[in-house]
Amino acid sequence: MQKTITLVALLTLTALHANDTQTFRNYEDTERDSVEELYRLNHTNQTLAFVQAQGEKYTPLNHAKLGMWDVLEKLNGLVDDSDPDLDLPQMVHALQTAESIRADGHPDWLILTGLIHDCGKMLFFFGEPQWAIVGDTFPLGCRFSDKIVYPHLFTTNPDMKNPLYQTECGIYERNCGLRNVHMSWGHDEYLYHVVKKYLPEQAAYIIRYHSFYALHQEGEYMHLLDEYDHKMLPWVKLFNQYDLYSKCPVEPNAQHLAPYYQALILQFLPEILAW
Ligand SMILES: [Fe+2]
Ligand SMILES: [Fe+2]
Repeated sequence: MQKTITLVALLTLTALHANDTQTFRNYEDTERDSVEELYRLNHTNQTLAFVQAQGEKYTPLNHAKLGMWDVLEKLNGLVDDSDPDLDLPQMVHALQTAESIRADGHPDWLILTGLIHDCGKMLFFFGEPQWAIVGDTFPLGCRFSDKIVYPHLFTTNPDMKNPLYQTECGIYERNCGLRNVHMSWGHDEYLYHVVKKYLPEQAAYIIRYHSFYALHQEGEYMHLLDEYDHKMLPWVKLFNQYDLYSKCPVEPNAQHLAPYYQALILQFLPEILAW
């Protein structure tokens, strides 16, 4: 029987991993030099105008026609420069996340979410730089929270010069709902548009906001949330436990797991998707 996810389960999981929080997302002591450079470029170039332009460019989904498994295989060659913890190929992270969700008896749609959540990194193959694909996401058009990773690197962002964007709500109304907020552009927002019409709303929401750590880990930007966001946020927090804590150097056997995951994909998604 599939497990019903309760707040108790979420709290238990959070408590279980409480001791590990120092181990992952340690930006001060990372051995990967690429991380700070990635965020320097990200925080300088992600402006409101940029994310609106990227949305117009990519949401028509006219860049490729590919199945989800093909995308996973393509991403296998990619290492995420923003990740201080991991320099394993993306397929390994996809399978580790999905397998850890599966091991805890969660529903099929959540296992699938684990498998595909980073497939928006497909943007890499359309020539986008990593600063426009990966890393933590944050709202544009309002004040940058100092809880966003490397907050001092925002000083070179042109949006800092626009007084309209320097207040808590900026261009938004209080409790307007995250769907009305322009988030920094990257793999979360892009994949959301690719899969939203096929997946349960919780899955689409997890995909769209899984890198919004200032919200789901730091509790910032709560004033922009509406009732719907409050209902959905526990799913993002639950998912994050698997996204972070399934990272380990032991690689799952992709060849052995492929038939199960290929069938799981087709349970929800068409054979060919528009990207
Ligand atoms: Fe991600
Ligand atoms: Fe991930």
